[in-house]
Amino acid sequence: MSSAPQQTTLWYDGQDNCLKVIDQTRLPFEVEVLALNTLEQAADAIVSMKVRGAPLIGITAAFGVYLSVRTDSGSLRYACESLLRTRPTAVNLRWALDRMYNSLKDLPEQQLAPAALELAQRLLAEDAAACGAIGDFGLDILTKLYQQKRELQGQDTVLNILTHCNAGWLATGAWGTALAPVYKAKLAGLPVHVWVDETRPRNQGASLTAWELAQSSVPHTLITDNAGGHLMQHGQVDICLVGSDRTTSTGDVCNKIGTYLKALAAYDNLIPFYAALPVSTVDFEAADGVSEIPIEERAADEVTHVQGIDDAGQLRRVQTSHPGTRVSNYGFDVTPARLVTGLITELGVFPATVQGLLSLKIQIR
Ligand code: MRU
Repeated sequence: MSSAPQQTTLWYDGQDNCLKVIDQTRLPFEVEVLALNTLEQAADAIVSMKVRGAPLIGITAAFGVYLSVRTDSGSLRYACESLLRTRPTAVNLRWALDRMYNSLKDLPEQQLAPAALELAQRLLAEDAAACGAIGDFGLDILTKLYQQKRELQGQDTVLNILTHCNAGWLATGAWGTALAPVYKAKLAGLPVHVWVDETRPRNQGASLTAWELAQSSVPHTLITDNAGGHLMQHGQVDICLVGSDRTTSTGDVCNKIGTYLKALAAYDNLIPFYAALPVSTVDFEAADGVSEIPIEERAADEVTHVQGIDDAGQLRRVQTSHPGTRVSNYGFDVTPARLVTGLITELGVFPATVQGLLSLKIQIR
């Protein structure tokens, strides 16, 4: 069972009457908390990726709706429409805004703001609980794998997990999706070690996942994005665990660019490949992930430049390519369902098949 949620990256501050978020563009060098007071600030935080990760984008948008209607009760539709335009791929954004809009649209003016705040708080709490449950279901998988490995290799064995991007508590209400089972494993005393893909171009693995795991003393090793296949060929990866930004009704999993290549390598090496996601990430309207999921294209400077601190401790951006080089920067890719061993959700583990998604849908109702 879930124990108390771990760290959280977003909360409503009732004293200051604003939304507080950790600015993820400053990590891992500074933990800076931002106060968001307006719709525009909430939308900007999503666009500029001060907050990111599929569930967190949806939760931030829900609070953004509140920040808008508390000063302008006629702005519900405008707020939802403008927040929906902030990022295209993670379906949790649409899911959260639909919930806000449908619950609020018929309320009398004086009830709108308190109801919006209450619902946004509820979405945050629900996501935290969902991720805790994902952690519990994922822990069962990790425990079985560990027991099998220990029978073959003895007491000192460690379970090696490979993850891509950041699908930890920074990306959700609490716990994370792909990292929730890892945190639960750590709490349960299971010896785990995480291979952290650095996740170019924005380095969510290097700057966020490695930092998160260090906060909880989970053993981990940062690797380049191209290293996973080699490690898998050499028996150094027991399971791949990733999050998802949108999963279709057929089980295709859209996640951070590069996930597909990890799934191909895992398939070739007979390594289980799981996606962990709350049901808010499932797009039951989409069937074929490759043709139907909008893939975000981001600015060229994310590829041509890198950010880090220099030897004097100053945060700097430096250019790594010839000026004027043509750039393509797709943010996500789609892993076809046939490469996915299973989907770990808050309602259990489901096969990444039409049948599996149907049984999930039945459980939701
Ligand atoms: O572009 P980002 O950083 O928002 O992308 C995040 C991811 O791809 C995560 O893996 C995904 O949102 C799942 S997070 C729980």
